[in-house]
Amino acid sequence: MGQTATLAINGKSVELPIVVGSEKEVGVDIAQLRAKMGAITLDDGYGNTGACASAVTFIDGEKGILRYRGYPIEDLAEKSNFIESAYLLIFGELPTSPQLAEFKQHLTDYQFIHEDLQHALAGFPPNAPPMAILSAMINAAGCFESDLLESHDDKNIGEMAARIMSRVRTIAAASFKKHLGRPIIYPRSDMSYTANFLHMMFSKPYENYEPDPEIVRAVDQLFILHADHEQNCSTSTVRMVGSAKANLWASVAAGVCALWGPLHGGANMEVIDMLKRIHEGDDTAQSFIAKVKDKNAHAKLMGFGHRVYKNFDPRAQIIKKACDRVLGKLGIKDPLLEIAKKLEEAALHDSYFVERKLYPNVDFYSGIIMRALGIPTDMFTVMFAIGRIPGWIAHWREVNVNPHGRINRPRQIYTGPTLRPYAPIEKRG
Ligand code: SDX
Repeated sequence: MGQTATLAINGKSVELPIVVGSEKEVGVDIAQLRAKMGAITLDDGYGNTGACASAVTFIDGEKGILRYRGYPIEDLAEKSNFIESAYLLIFGELPTSPQLAEFKQHLTDYQFIHEDLQHALAGFPPNAPPMAILSAMINAAGCFESDLLESHDDKNIGEMAARIMSRVRTIAAASFKKHLGRPIIYPRSDMSYTANFLHMMFSKPYENYEPDPEIVRAVDQLFILHADHEQNCSTSTVRMVGSAKANLWASVAAGVCALWGPLHGGANMEVIDMLKRIHEGDDTAQSFIAKVKDKNAHAKLMGFGHRVYKNFDPRAQIIKKACDRVLGKLGIKDPLLEIAKKLEEAALHDSYFVERKLYPNVDFYSGIIMRALGIPTDMFTVMFAIGRIPGWIAHWREVNVNPHGRINRPRQIYTGPTLRPYAPIEKRG
């Protein structure tokens, strides 16, 4: 038997197997705990609990390391592109030229949404939250994929991935046009994935938008940086839903709903709102920091802090550099960027943040670069979702192909009322 951990409760003890991952992370396998000890563990928010073993992404929060299938995020952000990185996450290896060409062709083949889906889109009010539209339309799109909707055959994963990735992009752009009350722009087969998205977002029936290659590169890099992040809230949601053998469309739609939360993917919108309030209001960076430290003010420094990263989020560092590069290239001076830098500088030298290990996360600067690229604030989390889809698909696949996979069903410690008899209504109150 390998290394074990000993747990003792009321004089009774059990030896629990130790699991060591490929990056030497150590876990205690408690699969037999309840059977042998009549006890379970409790870990509100799962800060200390591994939900699974996974080979997709590795994060070292203390060292600021993020790798997709072993490749450092810095290398992928600089040298790869979103479709190649998506392929890597889903299939586990960087694609050969023929593999990449085939995947790109699938994405082009599946870029149109069924015309009837536009009736579903038309049913939303003009001010419908884009994440509500996205999650609903992904399930609606699944209804037009009857040949693969309920497939769990791993040989279909490439086709399923291409359909979802390509059509989510078309749906996202269409939801933006609907929000504006403008005609939907159809995709083009002569453009890259990201350029085509920007075309569908910003072209008009009478005027083609030809995206600046620098803008395409910046958006493509944002998609790479958002593509996966191991067991975050939305990916864990996709795995949870997928563990019930729910189809890929339903699982991805559930991930969109989790990502919508302001503590998660919704933070990029909250950051811009926070910076705007400081810019337009009476607060300075310093006075806002003082408010954040005052618990009674209930103010958070949005875009700061992370459950895993306790020194720096490598993605934030890459995006911050991209901000300077892209805004410089576009000749944009955004006062919100200056405020963000002042907030970061103040926080990095303030014991409140240093003691709590609070640093900029992926959302702190991403909104500023998206603003500069002309992406409207209420589309920021949709952009995050488009980037995260390959990661969700990779994790759904990992659950789907697991021969020992079981439905995820956590236990609990009950703290409600103990046994009591039914009280007729006349005897209540
Ligand atoms: C993403 O998990 C992932 O990987 C997510 C993600 C991904 O790629 O999928 O990286 C994307 O979701 C990034 C996070 C985006 N969210 C935000 O920026 C929202 C602001 N951040 C916080 O809400 C918070 O930092 C979280 C949600 C990110 C993490 O929350 P934790 O780990 O539960 O931390 P906590 O709430 O227990 O905070 C510990 C302490 C508390 O103070 P004390 O009670 O000890 O006095 O730090 C404080 C918190 O009040 N704190 C903050 C803060 N974040 C934590 N104080 C002010 N501002 C903040 N942003």
